[in-house]
Amino acid sequence: MGKVHVSSHPLVAHKVTLLRDVNTEPKRFRELVDEITSLLLYEATLDFPLREIEVQTPLATTRGYDLQWRIGFVPILRAGLGMVPAALRLMPFAEVWHLGIYREHDTLRPVEYYNKLPQDMKIDVALVLDPMLATGGSAVAAVDVLKLRNLSAVRFVGLIAAPEGIEALTRAHPDIEIYVAAVDSHLNDQAYIVPGLGDAGDRQFGTG
Ligand code: PRP
Ligand code: URA
Repeated sequence: MGKVHVSSHPLVAHKVTLLRDVNTEPKRFRELVDEITSLLLYEATLDFPLREIEVQTPLATTRGYDLQWRIGFVPILRAGLGMVPAALRLMPFAEVWHLGIYREHDTLRPVEYYNKLPQDMKIDVALVLDPMLATGGSAVAAVDVLKLRNLSAVRFVGLIAAPEGIEALTRAHPDIEIYVAAVDSHLNDQAYIVPGLGDAGDRQFGTG
């Protein structure tokens, strides 16, 4: 059974507050997305298994460690793109599988419009990156796609979630682990997270 991990890190709480602020400009907003992603990825990888290896220092041979799992990042376009630089900085050897999904305006249903998953599945764990988990439709669709390709170890890493999104994702995929910076109060009539931060894509890219 998967688990919902809500960060209790003081730096995350501080930075999410700045992220929410309507006066935070896109440049700073992008920096904050990057910084919070790094902190969340620290938490999302804490239990990654290691394999012992030997390393030669200038003085001696000693025990070292290598990551056992091959890692893939699955950013959901467009807003998930802002989480990729931090992810690749921490794990530069990881693969990045781009998945384009948007919420259809009226129905709020996820629409897949871009899929760059490779034919050859050479990873052991996928970290789905998307700042917002609102109705959960986009995240559920992303994990559906990964599971159709027989990938079972999936983690979702997001910045802000609504209870509705957590409920939908855990109901559809009870096995996946969810890592978020905050869980907010509710969704409004347009399925925006309240209090939230607005539209994560627009705020990163200066649109809207
Ligand atoms: C946002 C966000 C998620 C989705 C969350 O993307 O980045 O992908 O909404 O909503 P849901 O949980 O109700 O599916 P959006 O559709 O606005 O597309 P964009 O990233 O291209 O702006
Ligand atoms: N997508 C966003 O960018 N923000 C929300 O509050 C909900 C969906």
